[in-house]
Amino acid sequence: MLGVHKAVFPVAGIDTRFLPATKASPKEMLPVIDKPLIQYAVEEAIAAGITELIFVTGRGKRVIEDHFDKSYEVEHVLRARGNQKLVELVQSIKPPEVECVYVRQAEPLGLGHAVLCAEKLIDGEPFAIILADDLLTGQPPVLAQMVHIFSHYDSSVLAVEEFASHEASSHGVIDGRHWDERVINVSSIVEKPTPEAAPSSFGVAGRYVLMPSIFEHLRALVPAGNGEIQLTPAIHSMLKDEQVLAYEFVGKRYDCGTKLGYLQATVDFALRHAEVQDAFDAWLHDRLRSSHPSVGESGLSGGQAGPGIFPPH
Ligand code: UTP
Repeated sequence: MLGVHKAVFPVAGIDTRFLPATKASPKEMLPVIDKPLIQYAVEEAIAAGITELIFVTGRGKRVIEDHFDKSYEVEHVLRARGNQKLVELVQSIKPPEVECVYVRQAEPLGLGHAVLCAEKLIDGEPFAIILADDLLTGQPPVLAQMVHIFSHYDSSVLAVEEFASHEASSHGVIDGRHWDERVINVSSIVEKPTPEAAPSSFGVAGRYVLMPSIFEHLRALVPAGNGEIQLTPAIHSMLKDEQVLAYEFVGKRYDCGTKLGYLQATVDFALRHAEVQDAFDAWLHDRLRSSHPSVGESGLSGGQAGPGIFPPH
């Protein structure tokens, strides 16, 4: 059985959809409640057994390195204040058994190009790619589910979910045949088709476990008119030579690369956050009742009073 020990986090995009917040700070550092998106992604990777985290960074992304680095000043101040709990919280951001490596993408020439920047570090092993702006919840965590499928079938695996037809143009969309309830043998994949041209209603969420042969296909691609190299056409090219599977993960995706998805994640995570859930639930309930009097008396987070508006995860 093949193991997966390395994960690539491409974080070198220009983040136009969150300007001005992302003018000087990367979107991967946007917090959902009290944790940046990139930390949720790293925790998911570690839960899947990943021990080498490879960040493909670009201009203005230094703060990501700082986040996973030791901070003597912060720890010193917290210790001096006797706040051992916070010292441990800060230290737990990067467990000692995990190594962080950084490689720079000099120009934002597309996701495929960013992945190519990590080729030397991958060194011929199967590896995961995690796009941190897709925040995925699942139990077990989604990447762990995928590593299980990868090891079982010895094939590259793409995380997919069903989407509404009007959303086709914001996904890579696959075609293929179901092997079982959740595993699809992929026959083609297209990047952001029009709803009419979409071959199915299964779109790729930002998680991949790939064989290292992807690099040959990335290198052989002719850059698009804007100079970018995308990952989707390289995966399509891979299909000529080898099997690629899509896996309908068990869990929920929040597209935190969009304002709406980011807000949805913030609300759902707040309704499950031990420190704020009760007060936030009560506030949100009052807020909704004042604008929608038909909202009932039960809490929104699905507590004892009723099923709630938001599903438990
Ligand atoms: P996006 O398509 O979300 O682009 O990239 P973006 O620049 O990050 O954001 P918007 O759309 O302008 O708001 C998908 C992923 O690929 C990475 C991004 O950091 C993101 O994780 N990426 C994209 C790179 O690392 N390098 C690139 O050249 C392009």
